[in-house]
Amino acid sequence: METSSAPGKVFLFGEHAVVYGEPAVVCAIDRRVTVAAGTTDNTRDSIHADADTGLPVSEIRAEYDGERTILTGETDGFEYIETAVDRAREEVESDARLEIEIESELPIGAGLGSSAAVVVATVDAVTRELGVELDPERIAEIGHEVEKEVQGAASPADTFTSAVGGVTYVEPDDELRSLDTEEFSETELVVGYDGDSAPTGEMVEGVRRLREESDVAARVVESIGDLTREGVDAVKRGDIEETGDLMNLNHGLLEALGVGSSSLSRMVWAARDSGAEGAKITGAGGGGCVVAVPGDDPETVAAGTEIESERVFEVTVSDGVRRE
Ligand code: PMV
Repeated sequence: METSSAPGKVFLFGEHAVVYGEPAVVCAIDRRVTVAAGTTDNTRDSIHADADTGLPVSEIRAEYDGERTILTGETDGFEYIETAVDRAREEVESDARLEIEIESELPIGAGLGSSAAVVVATVDAVTRELGVELDPERIAEIGHEVEKEVQGAASPADTFTSAVGGVTYVEPDDELRSLDTEEFSETELVVGYDGDSAPTGEMVEGVRRLREESDVAARVVESIGDLTREGVDAVKRGDIEETGDLMNLNHGLLEALGVGSSSLSRMVWAARDSGAEGAKITGAGGGGCVVAVPGDDPETVAAGTEIESERVFEVTVSDGVRRE
């Protein structure tokens, strides 16, 4: 049995625009998905996913051999897991059957990269169990293929960040790299969660349509790219004030693209009103999470944000996929 874990993430800048080749700055956070993989003599794979945190991560118990039998629970997330197991097996040219056990600290579909984290941790645990140690960059590539297969469209932002950890700069057609951000890496971030979720695919489709129909919307997407190019320098310098200002600007542009919601706005304003330097949606939007840079007083910002949130997480920058 091999066990691996991989982190969730927040977007500091650039979600949605990254789908059109603009850059994004993404940060791995210290809430993780843990996957244990063991080979079995059974003729089918079996997968059990459970949440140990009281968050609404569906419990899944299922068997799979090309055809799926759900034994208990919902199917949310199942396709990601079975596709990741298949791709990992292909990578090491094995036909072994596997038992997979998953625990998650991340809400599903809420902008914290739960699908990328489960995919990255599954690929690492399965390939290790089958005797091959892949480097994080290769795990990220396989993870990106899995997300594209399951979602139809996906940028490499989530899977790359979950695999390599830290703060990353993702420019899809050009480069994916880790940022040297010693100062920013010590910053605490506050994440507000409204208990809601929205399918990434649908949110991406909504922005795609708007961008096609409206030149103004297309320029909003380009403006997100421009502010991200400024934001990356602010993050590298550890300039929290400028990072926060640019996050506020980014939030406004995401709302202009139609991916805001009243509860996301309430959490953003609660964070700002309690002293955050900046706050914005993280991820696809529509519902889920916001991220705030709290400046000097994370406790006050967390307490203020909590008033408008279902849950608040205080997080720090985390390492990438690792063996447990
Ligand atoms: O909500 P999440 O964590 O799935 O993030 C989606 C981010 C998008 O930029 C909207 C899509 C993508 O593939 O990058």
